[in-house]
Amino acid sequence: MSFKLPLSFPVFNGNEKKYSNEAIEAGHLATHGKFIPKFEAKLSRRIKTHQTVALNSGTSALHLALVLLGVEAGDEVICQSFTFCASANPIVYLGAKPIFIDSEDESWNMSPELLEDAILDRISEGKKPKAIIMVHLFGMPAKMHEIMDIAQRYSIPILEDAAESVGSKYRGEYCGTFGSLGIYSFNGNKIITTGGGGALISKDTQLIQRAKYLSTQAREDLPYYQHLEIGYNYRMNNMAASIGCAQLEQLDSFIEKRRLINRRYRELLAGLPGIDFQNEGEDSFSNFWLTAILIDPNLSGTTNDKLRVKLLKENIETRFLWKPLHLQPVFRNLPYFGGEVAQGLFKKGLCLPSSVSLELEDQERIASFIRSSVAQIYT
Ligand SMILES: Cc1ncc(COP(=O)(O)O)c(C=O)c1O
Repeated sequence: MSFKLPLSFPVFNGNEKKYSNEAIEAGHLATHGKFIPKFEAKLSRRIKTHQTVALNSGTSALHLALVLLGVEAGDEVICQSFTFCASANPIVYLGAKPIFIDSEDESWNMSPELLEDAILDRISEGKKPKAIIMVHLFGMPAKMHEIMDIAQRYSIPILEDAAESVGSKYRGEYCGTFGSLGIYSFNGNKIITTGGGGALISKDTQLIQRAKYLSTQAREDLPYYQHLEIGYNYRMNNMAASIGCAQLEQLDSFIEKRRLINRRYRELLAGLPGIDFQNEGEDSFSNFWLTAILIDPNLSGTTNDKLRVKLLKENIETRFLWKPLHLQPVFRNLPYFGGEVAQGLFKKGLCLPSSVSLELEDQERIASFIRSSVAQIYT
């Protein structure tokens, strides 16, 4: 379905056509061509100090990262529960077991206290987790300092799922750059897109070299095809990278616009009973990829689903927040540490249209529908 006001729609107002034409004219559409190393260098410069491997999705980046961290069948890997399934699926691809952790209610990301509880519990069972996957949802940085402290105390590597938070910062450093490895997604609805695509980043040159090797079918550097290991077809293609180069040039303006959209929603919905926002802490700078609100049925007299349906009738797309993974049928019966924070966010939350192309009048329309739903019980 195509919406009049979609949740997150890409814009191609920069050099996308110019660069992709260059890729076509050079005949380089696959995994050779100048735009792949260019995109990697540009992204590394943009997020400072880190090295980048461009891949064909955020999911493949997560899978490859777990391979690089030595996760094997029978291992346990800690994962934030409040996230998209792609954060945890690669654990299962490797025959390992996800251990889910609840969120804290400030950033909505992994609770550091519950993380430590889980680590201590698993160690007491003789099962020290092999890695920790934490997420910066909707662009909002997690409590990175506390999480890093705990991970370092128990010597467990962090894999940062920064799929949604390209350009977000915590205490001035970019999300994705704290852990042993970080990943980004450039899927069609993300803050910058390459159609489909992702990246793996790390300070560790050896890990990056190995990621490049494994992502191109682990082909040996010989004139014929020789393979000493099982590899993957996970590299980004040159066509996608050409679009990525153009999109990266606009990242700052995209972030500025998404932050403006968030500010406007706050102004337009100010004072409405039972409506709350995902808020930045004093250490956080969010790219506000999506503006997410909470609707308290007791105070607002409406629900996230009623609002979703009302806006849908107006051809306006909204989306529930992620259903926690420990509640997903596919992940049932797996260990879970926490209470009902993530579940509560899922029950009350709604993501609002946040596309860069959104105009003030569009937001005024959306806000007036929300206002009229909430106002009904007060008038
Ligand atoms: C939190 C999170 N992790 C991982 C992914 C997977 O990225 P991709 O769709 O590029 O495979 C996504 C997005 O789709 C995501 O939102």
